[in-house]
Amino acid sequence: MVVRQLAYHANSMVYRKNGFIPPRLLTAIHRGQFMTQQTEADARRAGDHACEIVHESEREWETLRFDGTESKMLFHPRPERPLEPNAGLVRYAPGSSFPVHRHDFAQVWYILEGQFTIGGKKCGPGTMIFHDAPHYEEEMHTETGGVWLLVQYPGPKTGKPAIYEGRFNMKKRIPIGQERLDY
Ligand SMILES: [Fe+2]
Repeated sequence: MVVRQLAYHANSMVYRKNGFIPPRLLTAIHRGQFMTQQTEADARRAGDHACEIVHESEREWETLRFDGTESKMLFHPRPERPLEPNAGLVRYAPGSSFPVHRHDFAQVWYILEGQFTIGGKKCGPGTMIFHDAPHYEEEMHTETGGVWLLVQYPGPKTGKPAIYEGRFNMKKRIPIGQERLDY
C-alpha cells in the first residue's frame, strides 16, 4: 500500500508540474493501479450494485402486442425485481405500425436500423426519442421495418413501472381492437 500511495502522490506531482497527466498514466489510475485506501472506499461502497452484463444472443425473440413486432428484452421487470427497466431490442417487420396509445412509465428509444414515420416525422438510424412520464406515443409506421433499442423505466413522478409481463412476452397476440391503449 505504501508503494501505491507513493505512486498516487507522484501522479499528483506530475499533474501540478505539467497541468495534465499523460494518457497512459491516467489509464493506469482509472484501472485502480495507484488507488489509495481512501479512493477505493469512495469508488465502491458497501451495498453498491455491480454491473450486470448480458449479450443479446443470450435471449430469444418474443411476441410483442402489435402486428409485425417482436422483442428481445435483455433486462425486464420480474416479480422479485418489479422496478427493473424493460430494456432491449424491438424488431419491426416491413409494413408494421402501431396506433396512438399512452403509458405511465418513461422510456427512451434509439433507432438502430430502418426508416420510420413517428407522428408524421421521418426518423432513421441514429435518432433518439425520449418520452417523459406520463406520455402518449404518436402513431408509427414503417415501410422498411427495422430495429430499435428500447429502455423503459419507472416514471420519476408517476412511480409506475415498465410493463413486460403479458405485453413483451405474449404467447398469442390478441386483435388490436381488444388491446388496451390507455396504460
Ligand atoms: Fe407503447
